[in-house]
Amino acid sequence: MVSVTHLLMRPGRRMSIMIGAIALLAVGMSPMASSQDQSTTIAKDAIFARKILMDTINTNMDELETMTTSDKGVNLTEGREHADLISVMLMAFPHLFPASTNQWKPNVERDPGRDTYASPDLFTNYADFYARAAGGMRLMPRALSQV
Ligand code: HEM
Repeated sequence: MVSVTHLLMRPGRRMSIMIGAIALLAVGMSPMASSQDQSTTIAKDAIFARKILMDTINTNMDELETMTTSDKGVNLTEGREHADLISVMLMAFPHLFPASTNQWKPNVERDPGRDTYASPDLFTNYADFYARAAGGMRLMPRALSQV
């Protein structure tokens, strides 16, 4: 699924916003952030940042898929760049899940551009989630070396 944010932004701009959102999140998570308002903003920023991150992983994955299914063959240099980007993004991804972003509710309509689809199980078994992200991160360069 592709969000509106994804469609509206160029990859470079998306990456800058993502880095900015992650930096803001890191600042916002400092002990100074104590009010309810700040906590809500931090949760919104984290959800926004991880959606952009996932969308960007998806864009890079699409590029790889196009490359591996095309008659022109695989451009290994370009392919490695996409795989490296996905690896780095998967490394940052699990850190964008503070407890306040556990907002799953059954049978509620969500805005795909803003709301989270993350399962509550993710927060109760964070170690498993973290391991899956790390697994994907390690798999990327290895998968490409087999092309
Ligand atoms: C190449 C591999 C992957 C692709 C192409 C991919 C793609 C996507 C896309 C398109 C979304 C929707 C983003 C949006 O709402 O706009 C998403 C969300 C999500 N993905 Fe992935 N994903 C990948 C790997 C993973 C891995 C390894 C994990 C777990 C460790 C993961 C966990 C999630 C979670 C939890 C969400 C929901 C985030 C939220 O709504 O708050 N994904 N993914």
